[in-house]
Amino acid sequence: MAVETTAPAQAPALRLLRMTLNGRPVELEIAPRELLLPVLRDRLGMKGAKLSCDVQVCGACTVLLDGVPVSSCTTLAYEADGKSVETIEGLAHDGRLHPIQAAFIECGAFQCGFCTSGMILSTKALLAETARPTRDEIAAYLSGNICRCTGYWNIITAVEDAAGRLAGDGEEEGA
Ligand code: FES
Ligand code: FES
Repeated sequence: MAVETTAPAQAPALRLLRMTLNGRPVELEIAPRELLLPVLRDRLGMKGAKLSCDVQVCGACTVLLDGVPVSSCTTLAYEADGKSVETIEGLAHDGRLHPIQAAFIECGAFQCGFCTSGMILSTKALLAETARPTRDEIAAYLSGNICRCTGYWNIITAVEDAAGRLAGDGEEEGA
């Protein structure tokens, strides 16, 4: 009879994750190796972040961690502990789209939409840093977000348009 020489593997202890998700406090137990993307999608119902490449290349899974874009497919969930996480679900308020969302729609900046939540969240981070980026600056900042169907011209135009909306361009005319 074979003799067992190693101790049976034990499930790693769970740990408590406390974070703010789209402005609301969230607490849940996670395994140490759980990744942020499946926690957001499968346990918290935030389906806007998409799984595509799974290796931090395409940006479809982008969320904001304390305002900084991260690939949630390769971010450990516990890295969000004590931090603020923002997903696309957090952008619209009181039934009104965020200005970046409105700009993407009006500029025709997506087709299938698979990349769009990541594009919009990266745009939010960019415009928080640089209110009026040039087209080259936009292209450089969004280089980690890959779109497979639209082409980038309309996306960059949408970011310029969003910058204008956030700066209040045209408010005088509409007031
Ligand atoms: S799915 Fe995370 S970067 Fe592509
Ligand atoms: S709109 Fe389809 S991947 Fe970007």
